[in-house]
Amino acid sequence: MKILVVGSGGREHALGWRLSQDVGAPNATPYQLFFAPGNPGMAALGQCLDIEATNIFALSLFAEKEKIDLVVVGPEAPLAAGLADALQAKGIAVFGPVQAGAQVEASKAFAKTLMMEARVPTAAYQQFKNPLEAIEALDKFSLPYVIKEDGLAAGKGVTVTESKATAVAALKHAAAKGASVVVEDFLVGGEVSVLAMCDGTRAIPMLPARDYKRAYDCNQGPNTGGMGSIAPVPNLPCTFLKQVQEQVLAPMMRAFRARGIDYRGVLYAGLMVQDNGDINVVEFNARFGDPETQVVLPLLNENLASILLAAAQGDLSGWENTGFAWKTQHAVSVVIASEGYPDSPRKGDGMTFPSAISSDSLLFHAGTRLMPNQTVVTDGGRVLNAVGLGDTLEEACNKAYGVANSVAFNGAWYRRDIGAVETPMVV
Ligand code: AMP
Ligand code: GLY
Repeated sequence: MKILVVGSGGREHALGWRLSQDVGAPNATPYQLFFAPGNPGMAALGQCLDIEATNIFALSLFAEKEKIDLVVVGPEAPLAAGLADALQAKGIAVFGPVQAGAQVEASKAFAKTLMMEARVPTAAYQQFKNPLEAIEALDKFSLPYVIKEDGLAAGKGVTVTESKATAVAALKHAAAKGASVVVEDFLVGGEVSVLAMCDGTRAIPMLPARDYKRAYDCNQGPNTGGMGSIAPVPNLPCTFLKQVQEQVLAPMMRAFRARGIDYRGVLYAGLMVQDNGDINVVEFNARFGDPETQVVLPLLNENLASILLAAAQGDLSGWENTGFAWKTQHAVSVVIASEGYPDSPRKGDGMTFPSAISSDSLLFHAGTRLMPNQTVVTDGGRVLNAVGLGDTLEEACNKAYGVANSVAFNGAWYRRDIGAVETPMVV
């Protein structure tokens, strides 16, 4: 079986690594893996292609010529640009939604409209085609203001602020870009990411995960793509996933179908869970979360390729009643970032890696590059993901930080409090 993974980050490295573990002896890749474009971490698992993740034409051509059995799309940009549509048109199985489905992430306004139609709980909101009109309306919203730009913004299109001046600046910024905005009520609670595998009809949730989105310890500083993650999330009620299925996933799948959208791939629900157990959707993504994937997939006790292919082929019925099987362990991922992230990350720093890492630990490459002299240098804001597995959250944390401490590059930094349970929730 030939599998092409599209993307170049830690999420795609985790996907490739997990696929390489599917069957057979450890480290013996049972599938032929290709990555477009991949990174030095993935080069150890398969062939990295000189094709950018957004080059739909080249990706389709390669998949057709190479007779790829399954394309797994990591990032949102190619999905929003119609990669899945192009591959499906050529009869190639693809895990990732069609362009119309990817709008659930690409357009905050579309996501809100769908949630209203499907009666999915979410913050009350108002959409403004002209963001400048929102400036006058700001006083109608209570503090803090939540302003969301339409369009893909790599986690940076959302402003949550107590300051009217900052809110106005965000609205002017959106107006200058010609983007419409959604202004919505602030939600209180603990954030939980539920990623569900979808086959057009069914949505089967994976283990709940938590992403630490703010740059600095104690959730201070700017929002980032995510500075670390844990799975599963402690202290959730045992009925949590059933509630998410009934209130969020099933209605969304019905809403997609009602619009003629055959949604196959991951539907990622970013949820705010209140102390009383009520849930609200903060956002949807049309893909695996990063860095949630790095903690969810190592715990999966199933053949991953079978699930991805079944979803792509529209038939996850084999797991409909049982759900997916999971290890009883905990996983923690710590993102090692480069100097200047998230504003202006520095690239090109030489890196040193440990010669070996302990068992139950993993190191995924997220923003690295191989130089012509075969050395690896930093190549982005989020550089590496150090992952630990353990029987307890604490043990998993210790393992993850053990790995994080063993890599070095100039300016490397990471949060020290990944795994701290921020908001206790009712059990
Ligand atoms: P989003 O890109 O929509 O996930 O927003 C980024 C982050 O902003 C979320 O992970 C939350 O931490 C925060 N956020 C977004 N919307 C709200 C809201 N309505 N209330 C509180 N926090 C929010
Ligand atoms: N971890 C947040 C995201 O993938 O969007």
